[in-house]
Amino acid sequence: MILVTGGAGFIGANFVLDWLAQSEEPVLNVDKLTYAGNMHNLLSLQGDSRHVFSQTDIGDYDAVLALLKSYRPRAVLNFAAESHVDRSICGPEDFIQTNVVGTFRLLEAVRVYWNELPDRERAAFRFLHVSTDEVYGSLTATAPAFAETDKYEPNSPYSASKAASDHLVRAWHHTYGLPVLTTNCSNNYGPYHFPEKLIPLMIVNALAGKSLPVYGDGMQIRDWLYVKDHCSAIRRVLEAGLVGQTYNIGGWNEKPNIEIVHTICALLDDLHPRHDGSSYSEQITHVQDRPGHDRRYAIDASKIEQELGWKPAETLDTGIRKTVDWYLANPTWVENVQSGAYREWMQQQYSASVKTATA
Ligand code: NAD
Ligand code: TYD
Repeated sequence: MILVTGGAGFIGANFVLDWLAQSEEPVLNVDKLTYAGNMHNLLSLQGDSRHVFSQTDIGDYDAVLALLKSYRPRAVLNFAAESHVDRSICGPEDFIQTNVVGTFRLLEAVRVYWNELPDRERAAFRFLHVSTDEVYGSLTATAPAFAETDKYEPNSPYSASKAASDHLVRAWHHTYGLPVLTTNCSNNYGPYHFPEKLIPLMIVNALAGKSLPVYGDGMQIRDWLYVKDHCSAIRRVLEAGLVGQTYNIGGWNEKPNIEIVHTICALLDDLHPRHDGSSYSEQITHVQDRPGHDRRYAIDASKIEQELGWKPAETLDTGIRKTVDWYLANPTWVENVQSGAYREWMQQQYSASVKTATA
């Protein structure tokens, strides 16, 4: 069994679905179910005994340790985090609590569990920490892409909290010998992406006839990675990554935000034309820029490609088309997120299983 934290969120849920589509090895999914946790993402796993869910905070040391001792996973993959930069600017507290304190408590529970494992299981155990390229700060237009050896210069409360968590993971390896792996990836996109982030927000707003808010001049650059490519990279790092190493994961897809928004509009014009026949790009509005907005992120993914033989399967064109198709095909998922119905449904569905799993 593997233990996945944050497995009801965007990337975590994609990872759990992907894992169970390819492996019989069960997953213990530990998620607090914040606003970003959505069990509708995992509806296809209802009744599948390979998926065990526990509504637990990674910062709840006793509960996490009990789960570890009870289910005895061979690996812990830490996706759980507060993940939205804009929210971190408005209210950084939750980011410190989950990303820093939560990761610390999770590491402590894992360390105790790992220390008590028999030698063979102890040697094979891995703690894989999922992090972001944002820890490296912002690049100028001509600077080379982020490499694993670059220094950390986080600029937002979100990236600072993730950088702190990466340092804790590193220290737990150097000090206690915990067999850790860290991955730093670029901006993900794809199915089940919460519509507060750029790509899903633009799709959902466009279809609802709302404005498409582009921050500042829209010339900020992000390096886009299709979520399923991220999942395959994580599987590869888990199976072949060298303990104590970090791996940058990216799709070689640098694009200014405004181009991404125009691409989405053009796809929607084609696949779901507006009633009045004009382009969705008419809904684009330039709004006030985000404070401290990082200008450019870019990932140099040479290390994972050369050392572990991983490559992304999607280009930005194929990945964005798949993403737009998914949102067009899943209006109920979007409605449930927007109305908040997914939260009421989870309260009814999961309060019972929580007690079973943590008992
Ligand atoms: P998300 O916000 O969609 O999901 C986060 C999940 O973690 C949710 O299910 C939430 O309920 C859960 N969670 C939050 N606090 C928790 C806690 N204290 N205990 C247990 N569970 C908790 O995030 P995401 O986009 O899926 O990101 C997953 C990971 O990947 C994060 O660590 C994030 O920093 C990292 N990352 C994301 C991106 C991206 O583009 N989305 C890019 C680079 C790195
Ligand atoms: P986001 O998806 O929030 O990811 P991150 O800030 O972690 O990179 O934003 C991606 C880019 O899109 C970022 O440069 C901010 C910009 N953006 C907008 O222009 N408008 C929006 O409504 C949002 C949510 C983001």
